[in-house]
Amino acid sequence: MVDISCGRISSPKGKSVRSYEIALYPGDGIGIDVTIEAAKTLHTAAERTGFCIETTEFDWGHRYWKKTGITAPEDFLSVLMGFDAVFLGAVGDPANLPDHITLAPLIRMRQQFDQYACVRPAKLLPGVDSPLAGRNSGEIDLVVVRENSEGEYADAGGILKTGTPDEVAAQTALHTRKGVERILRYGFELARKRRKNLAMATKSNAMKYGMVMWDRVLEEIQGDYPDVTAEKFHIDALCMHFVRCPERFDVVVASNLFGDILSDLGGAITGSLGLAPSANINPERRAPSLFEPVHGAAPDIAGQGIANPIAAIRSAAMMLDFLGETQAAEIIDSAVCSNLRDGRVRTPDLGGTSTTVEVGDDIAARIATQTGY
Ligand code: NAD
Ligand code: IPM
Ligand code: MN
Repeated sequence: MVDISCGRISSPKGKSVRSYEIALYPGDGIGIDVTIEAAKTLHTAAERTGFCIETTEFDWGHRYWKKTGITAPEDFLSVLMGFDAVFLGAVGDPANLPDHITLAPLIRMRQQFDQYACVRPAKLLPGVDSPLAGRNSGEIDLVVVRENSEGEYADAGGILKTGTPDEVAAQTALHTRKGVERILRYGFELARKRRKNLAMATKSNAMKYGMVMWDRVLEEIQGDYPDVTAEKFHIDALCMHFVRCPERFDVVVASNLFGDILSDLGGAITGSLGLAPSANINPERRAPSLFEPVHGAAPDIAGQGIANPIAAIRSAAMMLDFLGETQAAEIIDSAVCSNLRDGRVRTPDLGGTSTTVEVGDDIAARIATQTGY
């Protein structure tokens, strides 16, 4: 399906109109519902600020598996390579297919496209209550920077004598010096633009090879960023600090698995996983970057039309920002804040009774009409 939305385009002679081709990969469960709302806001923002968005939708995931027996075509990465960015809803349908099969294309994309910087902001927005007592909007404002290309998710391992009492499973984490150094430097650069504090997750008290190397690389490079304070925390204590004193964190750099865990926690302490956006970035822009909410396909609420679309909508704003459409990204973020501040149209995870579509429509209407841009 191809849908083209062109906005109020003022195209001075000789200058081409800004135009982006986006691959939509809605996936499964609530991924499908929230992608529709994210696409709606993308098209409205494009119309408002004057650029073209062309979206091409792929039915990969469980729907494609039902037709073909596989969840995505063999050449799906070369298909995606031609796009400016990829937007994914969520994949996973554990009642019908084992997760490690449905999710394999997502992990393959992150690794093959070298989307090594997974950026997951966790900010307490206006009008949203944190489950932590006494926190006001803006008081929690951190970004998890997750290493996204290797570590615990490296495809290194094997299984022997499956299903027998002698079964052996090996799963090896692979941390490369290059991989650790580049994600730490990414975190330091981001911290420089923010409150100049970097916290690194470690577990070098028990994982004496990989995590000890993480510690060492941090020590070696932190001198290059004298304006940023850097500290490290064991992951168990860091989870506790996220609950006890999240306001003390600014940029939090973590390995693939630790960053995955911290980012769900970040969503929870800032009011709902249904608000938490993410970007999987290839900073060198040699391949498309991927934008998706932090949450999954949520089979417990799939098909009910009540998923919060805001995480997906904010991920779409991160995509526009990455593509250089900063004004459109700001308009979307501001429309989301205005919806939340107003508080009348919200999904049940935030205590409301509205549907996914009603929230998407409300935010799209605010994008179209709000003043000040
Ligand atoms: P999940 O994130 O799908 O859901 C966790 C809980 O949060 C559920 O109670 C769910 O209802 C709630 N929730 C999530 N998103 C919400 C939203 N937008 N609005 C309101 N409530 C929301 O995690 P899970 O249950 O562990 O995983 C379900 C499936 O999704 C599994 O197949 C899993 O592997 C997959 N998954 C995919 C991704 C991805 O595609 N990036 C991410 C996480 C999980
Ligand atoms: C996420 C998800 C994925 C991950 C799963 C679905 C493979 O939890 O994007 O946070 O662990 O990276
Ligand atoms: Mn996750």
